[in-house]
Amino acid sequence: MLAVTPLASGRVADVYALGADRVIRRCRDGGDVRAEADLMAYLRAQGYPVPEVFRADGPDLEMTRLAGPTLAEALVTGVVDIRSGARILATLHDRLHALPTRASPDPTARVLHLDLHPENVLVTADGPVVVDWGNAGEGPPELDVAMTALIVAEVATDPASPYAALAGDLLTAFLAEAGPVRLLDGAVGLRARTGPLDARRLAQAAARVWTAHE
Ligand SMILES: Nc1ncnc2c1ncn2[C@@H]1O[C@H](COP(=O)(O)OP(=O)(O)OP(=O)(O)O)[C@@H](O)[C@H]1O
Ligand SMILES: [Mg+2]
Repeated sequence: MLAVTPLASGRVADVYALGADRVIRRCRDGGDVRAEADLMAYLRAQGYPVPEVFRADGPDLEMTRLAGPTLAEALVTGVVDIRSGARILATLHDRLHALPTRASPDPTARVLHLDLHPENVLVTADGPVVVDWGNAGEGPPELDVAMTALIVAEVATDPASPYAALAGDLLTAFLAEAGPVRLLDGAVGLRARTGPLDARRLAQAAARVWTAHE
């Protein structure tokens, strides 16, 4: 039997190491991860950096265990500098948005992650790898970029966060890489449904995205 040990937890899921090579990500609220697993298999076949999925069963997703810190950890410890971190995020967006969609007939639609922030990127020896595809969809790529900016701005405007200043610097550097944010209102609307913050805090974060452009 392989040892199963808790590895990490997010807001939605707990991740357990399954031996040295695999993890199980278990959604605490149950659900069905098959669509997420199908998308990950598709992206991997397209050459996009996601973990290999071995099994998807109800709330459980069994996948490659990635070795390396999250991009958030790497930024905090200085293993990755702010400019490189911003470039990693912008490049992951560009690569994702260059792929063909699977469902949408709209020629301008792209595959979107919609939660592409530094805790969902692992920095491995083979390069950055993106996890946590539970919010993914298809639509305008500018919405995905706006979501990343907004999520980073949520940290930058959190007075209780020890990483607020770092997040502010990352936001500025990300906008320098990704260009001006469009569809921020759409991102705020989506984040109001999927994120942890109330409307007042979201408005503060959105305002921070605008000031970061100046
Ligand atoms: N394949 C993997 N290999 C190693 N660590 C992983 C892997 N997948 C996830 N993790 C770790 O587990 C954490 C939580 O995973 P994930 O982001 O999928 O959960 P979540 O609950 O959906 O997160 P969120 O709080 O962003 O909604 C990640 O930030 C990462 O540290
Ligand atoms: Mg996550």
